[in-house]
Amino acid sequence: MSATSFSTAAGGLAIDGVPVADIAAGIGTPCYLYSAAAIRDAYTRLDSAFGDYPHAVHYALKANSTLEIVRLLKGLGSSVDANSIGEVDIALRCGFHPGQIMFTGVGKSAGELARAISLGLKAINVESPGELDRLDRLALDQRSVARVALRVNPDIDARSHPHISTGLKTNKFGVPIEAAPEIFREIQRRTGLEAVGVHSHIGSQITTLEPLLRAASAAVDLAVALLAEGVPLRHVDFGGGVGIAYDGKSAIDPAEYGRAILDTVRPTGLTALLEPGRVLVGPAGTLLTRIVDVKQFAGARQFIVLDAGMTELMRPALYGAFHRIEPVRVREGAPIVADIVGPVCESTDTFARDRELAPVEVGDLIVVRDVGAYGAVMGSTYLRRPLPPEILIDGGAWRVIRRRQTLDDMLRLEE
Ligand SMILES: Cc1ncc(COP(=O)(O)O)c(C=O)c1O
Repeated sequence: MSATSFSTAAGGLAIDGVPVADIAAGIGTPCYLYSAAAIRDAYTRLDSAFGDYPHAVHYALKANSTLEIVRLLKGLGSSVDANSIGEVDIALRCGFHPGQIMFTGVGKSAGELARAISLGLKAINVESPGELDRLDRLALDQRSVARVALRVNPDIDARSHPHISTGLKTNKFGVPIEAAPEIFREIQRRTGLEAVGVHSHIGSQITTLEPLLRAASAAVDLAVALLAEGVPLRHVDFGGGVGIAYDGKSAIDPAEYGRAILDTVRPTGLTALLEPGRVLVGPAGTLLTRIVDVKQFAGARQFIVLDAGMTELMRPALYGAFHRIEPVRVREGAPIVADIVGPVCESTDTFARDRELAPVEVGDLIVVRDVGAYGAVMGSTYLRRPLPPEILIDGGAWRVIRRRQTLDDMLRLEE
């Protein structure tokens, strides 16, 4: 399966055969651990569902753009989706050529658009008529033509968390799908623009296929109508959004999603593009942390204070996100119920409330699971806390792919 393989070794929990206590002894806590095998498995399941049908997986760098993770996906044949020029540069540094890079984003600056045109990226996913107009003028200034895909908003409820739903009319993303045909006609009239695709992305952490497939059908229907009008489209970009099982129960299988998208797009003959992030790297990541305090007073809640908090993993504070939290070595005794919190002076710095777990003591190692996506990338240095190291576990060995930040690293910007 696409999940990290956890097993119990003599010293406690092991990931893909590597005891995590060994990593803590070598590198300290907190730190991020990634299973290369889990990433390979998720990518392969999704990609191979398309067989020899024309398609490309554009890994969404926003989920995790640590260079070694990006290079791992490149080695598997992935292309990328960049949500800022910074991410475009990350892709170039990892060896992707411009024809493998999609550029998406709700508010691209003129500088970003000009750079994207000059690089000759595969396509720019455009969000509004105003952006198309700016892009046209910038392309003409460069005596160039910008390849564009229009992001359409199909007004479909992703039934995900409101903060990560993007496909409703009330969301800031894309253009209403019914306005798209006229906008494509306008693109056809502009000499600085070439329409290459229809793009849709209705949100993230979507846990049932139904909204994803409804959005896919809407994008395909639009593409068919545009082809009939003579718009020379090349692709339909179905965005990302496939959710994962944060509770360890059931989730969409990337292979099942891939097959369903293939069935939807096949009649068009157009290339299928996907922009998955979370489903490829989320289950591959684990945050390894240590208990620094345990607090309990009569009649009050019990608090377990970790050395990792919202500075390392923001999802619980940002979305109230649920993550499984487990001790590395399970102690004997009756389970306890406690709030599991970080060390940051904010009450929202709470990983879990009223969580049941085996009894623990100060100094015990704890893992927070499924943090490979929107984990390390959202880290901050609030309270001058250094960014944690990241470790790749591969073939029974581990290595540091990003070292722990030092105060000097942080202060270099202020010299
Ligand atoms: C345009 C776009 N594409 C792809 C993704 C990746 O989404 P996910 O990580 O849910 O697959 C996102 C993230 O929300 C996005 O905004």
